[in-house]
Amino acid sequence: MPAGPANPVGARELGEALRAAEGVLACAGVPSPRVDAELLAAHLLGIGRGELQAAAILGRPAPAGLDDLVARRAARVPLQHLTGTAPFRGFELAVGPGVFVPRPETEQVAQVAIEAAAAAVAATGRALVVDLCTGSGAIALAVAREVPGAVVHGVELDASAYAWAQRNVHLAAPGAVLLHHADARTALAELDGTVDVVVANPPYVPPGAVPVDPEVAEHDPAVALYGLGVDGLEVPRGIVAAAARLLRAGGLLVLEHAEVQDAAARGMVDATGAFGPAVTGRDLSGRARMVIARRVEAPGGAPARADVEHSPS
Ligand SMILES: C[S@@+](CC[C@H](N)C(=O)[O-])C[C@H]1O[C@@H](n2cnc3c(N)ncnc32)[C@H](O)[C@@H]1O
Repeated sequence: MPAGPANPVGARELGEALRAAEGVLACAGVPSPRVDAELLAAHLLGIGRGELQAAAILGRPAPAGLDDLVARRAARVPLQHLTGTAPFRGFELAVGPGVFVPRPETEQVAQVAIEAAAAAVAATGRALVVDLCTGSGAIALAVAREVPGAVVHGVELDASAYAWAQRNVHLAAPGAVLLHHADARTALAELDGTVDVVVANPPYVPPGAVPVDPEVAEHDPAVALYGLGVDGLEVPRGIVAAAARLLRAGGLLVLEHAEVQDAAARGMVDATGAFGPAVTGRDLSGRARMVIARRVEAPGGAPARADVEHSPS
């Protein structure tokens, strides 16, 4: 914040405004009221949170418009929709109505894909990576930014989410991700048997498990949440079949799922017969949040066909 003039007479001080905002947000049940109040004020002032805290200590004035944003946050509009951005692996994605807000736990899913892509580049000088269900483009862009030499495709079915992905690729790394507006279960047949890494955070919430938080239930698109089928794994099963089709022998599948779905997710992958034993990966807090499996060579040497028997899990 520039060392500007003192707080004009009569203007409300930032520190006082932040305390009031924190109280309003706490009463509304917002889980991190102080942090959200600071991030909203920092957004309005166009500064970072550290600078904002310094400004509050120095008695600077509160920004105009803070009360309005706080009221909307108290109505449980997602913080990221109000600031227009969500952080992901050290960069910012544009987000808003019509696209799933990327979550911190998905950064760990991306990490596994990034390590596998980097290993492929180290071994062969190239890596072909497909992010199925790309949403805002979070995982695809993270791989493209962190693995020079990787060729990254992102596939998204929903028109609104696809438009957000286009915007993010344009803003973050123009041309670095090849986007496809398509059903991930049938997309990219031209790459069958050639892909090094398939990564996906598909919809996986079962139909009866409506999320509790209003930010999720009322603002994340239903197509991003609900995986269909009694167990929420119908779309993920289609994604696993697509991965079996796309991956080269030795290629890696990384698929996010809910904590309670770890055994079902491993069973779903193992049932294809196209992968080595599926293992569960964990997020940074130790929760089982992804299934990881390596494509095996089919008898006869060619990548096996992606026929998947869908046994209930
Ligand atoms: C949970 S969101 C994940 C978005 C992003 N990968 C992330 O981690 O933030 C799931 C995304 O999959 C998309 N989707 C759902 N069904 C799909 C399908 N059959 N093919 C492609 N995308 C699909 C949704 O529109 C949504 O953008």
